[in-house]
Amino acid sequence: MITAKASGKLYLAGEYAVVEKGYPAIIASLNKFVTVSLTQTKNEGTLNSNRFTDTLIHWTRENDKFQIDVRDSQLEFIISAINCVETYAKQLGKELNFYDIDVESELDSDEGKKYGLGSSAAVTVATVRALCKYYGLEVDNSIIFKISAIAHLKVQGNGSLGDIASSTYGGIIYYISPDKNWILEALHSEELNKIIHEPWPNLVIEKLNLPTTSRLLIGWTGSPASTSILVEQIAYSKSQQKELYSNFLTESKQCINHMKQGFINNNLKVIQDEVINNRRLLNELSTFTNVTIETPTLTQLCDIAIKYGAAAKISGAGGGDCGIAIVENDDSKIQQITNEWKTNNITLLDLKITDWS
Ligand code: PMV
Ligand code: MG
Repeated sequence: MITAKASGKLYLAGEYAVVEKGYPAIIASLNKFVTVSLTQTKNEGTLNSNRFTDTLIHWTRENDKFQIDVRDSQLEFIISAINCVETYAKQLGKELNFYDIDVESELDSDEGKKYGLGSSAAVTVATVRALCKYYGLEVDNSIIFKISAIAHLKVQGNGSLGDIASSTYGGIIYYISPDKNWILEALHSEELNKIIHEPWPNLVIEKLNLPTTSRLLIGWTGSPASTSILVEQIAYSKSQQKELYSNFLTESKQCINHMKQGFINNNLKVIQDEVINNRRLLNELSTFTNVTIETPTLTQLCDIAIKYGAAAKISGAGGGDCGIAIVENDDSKIQQITNEWKTNNITLLDLKITDWS
């Protein structure tokens, strides 16, 4: 049996701006994983996941027609990951085989509720890793990232692919998104084998460390949100607010680059100041696009943490899911924050940043 895993992720800063090519975000990978196992079979295979039956499926309407949002279904990502790796394997002259696929995800709550920790990215990366091992393909993290990014892009289309980078590399990364149009055009005219060995315009992935004097607290609001729908709403509104949107991008870039220096210099104060700054920028984006990013529960989560000296903001697309607080490593402060979160129905998730890859 062949097994591979990929971690869940959490955005620390840079959300929404990072969807645009050339704009950065800082993303942490967590000690919760999706594990994919493959067992060789003959003539046919099975696909089994502990999340197929109980994951929340988002639906919407298009021209009044009920439509399931396939971007929230793990199955689509698994199929796309398999297709991409097998295309690559064939280009390298490998013979395709049959296997049973077993997917085990720790990235949703026990009731199957979505935490927003990047399960679709993790399942994509874990499937790509497992299949590359299965076919004996020599791959490093850069190739795993690129195959997974293409597989993910083909299903979701509108994300930054930062979650794919986090699930591939582990730890904390400074990430700048590549030019997605370049990738899509290249896919029309070049073989996958060639594209994944080329440098991708704008793409940057660098490792960072959280200062040892600090703790990252993750609060879960209990309400799931659809990232792709929120990103779509922002994309629609930004075309009506070109100047404000362009200022948002410039300021977000400055903020994330300062924050990056805070990580490099082990300076918690700088990181905290920029977390607060990024929260303000995201709230401004929310106001001029009229899209709810920081929900009342997320505001409460942030305000409680700030009251006890932490810096706090939403994590990811907002609209629900999680918020984060970065705080000094002081047990009494941490206790006060988590107690008050609990009284307000905000669950502290017992997760740690992990550098496992
Ligand atoms: O809600 P999440 O954790 O999936 O994060 C989304 C972050 C965005 O920047 C809003 C979108 C993206 O693809 O980067
Ligand atoms: Mg989210």
